Amino acid sequence: MYESQIGFIGTGYVGLVTAACFAKLGQDVLCLEIDNDKIQSINNGISPIYETGLQDLLFEVVKKKRKLYATNDRKLFFDKCDIFFICLPTPSNSDGSINLKFILDEIKEIAILLSKSDSYKTIIIKSTVVPGTTNGKIKNILEKYSNKCVGTDFGLGVNPEFLMEGSAIDNFLNPDRIILGSNEINTKNTLSKIYNNFNCPIFHVTIDEGEMIKYVSNSFLATKISFINEIANLSEFFNINMDNIVKGIGSDHRISNKFFRSGLGFGGSCFPKDVKALLHLSKKYENELNILKSTLEINNKQPYRAIQILNNNIDAFNKKITILGLSFKPNTDDIRESPSLKICDELVKQGCEVHVYDPIYVGKSLPTHDYITISNSFNEAIKDSSAVILVTEWAEFKNLNPSDFHLMKHKLVIDGRRVLNEKSFINSNVKLIILGNGNK
Ligand code: UDX
Repeated sequence: MYESQIGFIGTGYVGLVTAACFAKLGQDVLCLEIDNDKIQSINNGISPIYETGLQDLLFEVVKKKRKLYATNDRKLFFDKCDIFFICLPTPSNSDGSINLKFILDEIKEIAILLSKSDSYKTIIIKSTVVPGTTNGKIKNILEKYSNKCVGTDFGLGVNPEFLMEGSAIDNFLNPDRIILGSNEINTKNTLSKIYNNFNCPIFHVTIDEGEMIKYVSNSFLATKISFINEIANLSEFFNINMDNIVKGIGSDHRISNKFFRSGLGFGGSCFPKDVKALLHLSKKYENELNILKSTLEINNKQPYRAIQILNNNIDAFNKKITILGLSFKPNTDDIRESPSLKICDELVKQGCEVHVYDPIYVGKSLPTHDYITISNSFNEAIKDSSAVILVTEWAEFKNLNPSDFHLMKHKLVIDGRRVLNEKSFINSNVKLIILGNGNK
């Protein structure tokens, strides 16, 4: 364990999950947050966000073990912790670049506190920032407002996160690798101490390398998905089942079948934002990454593939169309960049009556999309519907069989995530079309 409390600035998905996991490992942690409702909730052991296992974990580390505490008192936070992980958001600007406002404002506050302190503090950037940011803008602000020098007076490093929503706790506790970026020995040693209980490979790299690894990881995975989606679109013209294609190519260990599910494209808070940011950076350096341009173009079009298939099969105007799934992937309530919303919006534009069923949105409303009806049950959603499009592969959708659709008016089911059992629909009165398989 690290001798002082470890500080986390920002209690979003990354900050809160990481803080709670460190606390589970026995580390004392302190979280700095500006939202008082969140602070109250965290200090009561209640998770302010939905993430698998987080509620139980938070209760354990806050209420039972008293290892985690949240505050809005920056001075207290600064005095108690020798190391701070910055876990603040870096949203996209309209040109695709990242918006550093939250981070740079916070860094300035830390620098001012540093200027008045004799203690050696280490600042670690966990937020996703493009290469050159930490050792550029962030370092400059820290040195300017503290009047101190990195390496001799304070430490600075990066530690990118690779947490997937829905399995973030497991990802943290059982990582494939840990990336620790630093340009001086003090920070390298501090980071080593903090992560000394992990058995996975730990790579010590430079700060720029650490930042780049994060972007390249996400961009590569996003590109892998866009690649297989394009292949799936082509495969629809042949007597092909995409599962066999992925098995066939994925068993070559150089390729692997992981993250190779074709469907309706990637969404969420990371992939679209990170690919855009790396593409923007490449343009700035006149080294445009054309492959990422294609990755995004393919992904922007992919959700509408389901609508093309729908329109090829029925006249959907004025009809009730049911969408299964709202979140960008199962086991999360996150709808940021969700393919489902793109599909809903387009169907509404085309004059359809859109009803959505998502297990995590039962009883909830979506004020930004009040033209969509959120159903309270699967049956309510499909009753009198002319077509169903399965957009998010929630576990409860996987075992649906033809009899589950008996309330539909016109029995057309489009499986955009390739999870339904094709065989069980043969010889039934439900027409099942699976994206990526032939015979449309
Ligand atoms: C991602 C990264 O995986 C994680 O390492 C990073 O730090 C944060 O961003 P997350 O956004 O939670 O995690 O979701 P992930 O499970 O990676 O899925 C991203 C998107 O790709 C989802 O929309 C998912 O449906 C889609 N996807 C994933 C596919 O379409 N096919 C696949 O084979 C895998």
